[in-house]
Amino acid sequence: MAAQTRKGDASGRGNSDGYKVSFPARMYAYNDEEIAAVVNVMKNSECQTQGENMARFESDFKTYTGANHAFAVDNATNALRIAATLCRFKQGDEVIIPAYTFCATALPFAAEGAKIVWVDMDDTWNADPDDIEKKITKRTKALVVVHLLGMPCEMEKIMKIARERNLIVVEDCAQAPGARIGDRHVGTFGDFGCFSFHGAKNMTTLGEGSMLTVRDDDMAKLVPGVRHNGVRGYEGERERYWVPAMSLVDFDIDGVWPHNFSMGEAQCALGSALLKRLDNINGILHEQGMKLRAMFEDTPEITYNRIPEGFFHIHHQCIYHFEGANGKNRDDLLDITTTKYGIRNIVQYYPLYRYPIFKKAGFGEADCPKLEKWWDNSFSFPWWCGVPDETLSYMADSIKAAIEEFKKA
Ligand SMILES: Cc1ncc(COP(=O)(O)O)c(C=O)c1O
Repeated sequence: MAAQTRKGDASGRGNSDGYKVSFPARMYAYNDEEIAAVVNVMKNSECQTQGENMARFESDFKTYTGANHAFAVDNATNALRIAATLCRFKQGDEVIIPAYTFCATALPFAAEGAKIVWVDMDDTWNADPDDIEKKITKRTKALVVVHLLGMPCEMEKIMKIARERNLIVVEDCAQAPGARIGDRHVGTFGDFGCFSFHGAKNMTTLGEGSMLTVRDDDMAKLVPGVRHNGVRGYEGERERYWVPAMSLVDFDIDGVWPHNFSMGEAQCALGSALLKRLDNINGILHEQGMKLRAMFEDTPEITYNRIPEGFFHIHHQCIYHFEGANGKNRDDLLDITTTKYGIRNIVQYYPLYRYPIFKKAGFGEADCPKLEKWWDNSFSFPWWCGVPDETLSYMADSIKAAIEEFKKA
């Protein structure tokens, strides 16, 4: 297959040229009700931002997740940035972050001046609570955990560790809206939860979007100002409504410069409409994820992450691991699945300490032996909501046939 450039979106999703099975840029199509919600704002809403649709979406999201507070934000990178801003790191303060995740988990914390300490994965492929405990020092101020692939982290263990040491906990729920442990939603365990509604996520609001959940009432009071340029209405009566000006801009927190990370009204209206079928979407993804797992039960060369009892994994992504066969590795496997079977498997999330941007900033060192061993042989299946059974079988059979080929060689 010829080398290809600039096909699909920035991550390569949506590039289907020459492949039988590839990653679409979107998980699913919007339905008529969702389209009507957007058109309604375009036609009838005076406010395009910070209006009634935002208030409704925030309230709907609180009801859906059970979070104490919820704030619509323009994307999850910026929701994480608000959480990082509110951590108020001082020079030398450390934040523990999983090394295996999308870069946006860590970038906002680096930008806020925290020193990043990378944590390893366990057999759930999320942050290893034992390793978190090992990496805590006197300078640790915050802990970021990621419910990666839509799979909840071991929050009970993690919260116990954090509470004993008074650490701020930020849950990166970008890939996990609707994921739960028992009845409890991710994003309601820690101090902050950051959800993404980017165009390729299980819930999408026109390309970008996010919700930031907050546990503490006093902390929640600080969010609107940090989210929107410190702007808020005047309290109390004014002799003349225009004096001194339309709204008050002030530091909510001394020394913290606010941002504008607001989410528009049309996206918020779409968010409320989509929440109604998020469980259905997650249910479909969960079911197809479990079907694919079952297809590899008799293939010891292919392994996947452990799902603890009672954890609802919403299968946002489907990443597996190739244990090797007859000296062949992941790259040999993908050579065959792409060229012979036309399946565009991809490899996601380079261990973050290997990226030049983190190396240059002094975060290039890590003690993550499990990730080091695991990453080089992991791969991701093309994935969307509603992969037909025959496509799941085709992907599984192709991998198995490639492994048999290795064994016979
Ligand atoms: C784990 C993780 N964190 C954060 C983000 C950032 O989300 P957004 O694209 O909404 O900024 C993503 C997006 O892919 C993600 O996968």
